[in-house]
Amino acid sequence: TKRNYHERVLDHYNNPRNIGSFDKKDIDVGTATVGAPACGDVMKIQIKVKENIVVDVCFKTFGCGSAIASSSLATEWVKGKTLDQCLEIKNTDIAKHLSLPPVKMHCSMLAEQAIKRAIYDYKVKHEKLNSSEQTTIETTASL
Ligand code: FES
Repeated sequence: TKRNYHERVLDHYNNPRNIGSFDKKDIDVGTATVGAPACGDVMKIQIKVKENIVVDVCFKTFGCGSAIASSSLATEWVKGKTLDQCLEIKNTDIAKHLSLPPVKMHCSMLAEQAIKRAIYDYKVKHEKLNSSEQTTIETTASL
């Protein structure tokens, strides 16, 4: 039940930040849609990048309260950061900030994966990937 959620989860759930969507075809936009097969929840995060910095970000999540809070928080954390800084965001930090219980860890995983894949999508568009980066991102992003 909702009563068991931490107040930070409820805050993001009731007042989600940066909900929306960008035009996928915009060259400055990186898009990622990730899903958790076990629960069927789906999360989409999009970043808008200028000169290697995330200048804008939005998300849409069809899922549990923890998934909504994780994606909302993730959008706050990436805004204004360089792509490299965004790649350092760990699901464990998201889960810690939101006090997610072990059973909800995968909800925060979705947010980390969505950020990484959105960056990957952006980099592919701009042909900015070197091969080791590609491997790292693909490994981390696979469910
Ligand atoms: Fe699956 Fe939260 S229960 S994303």
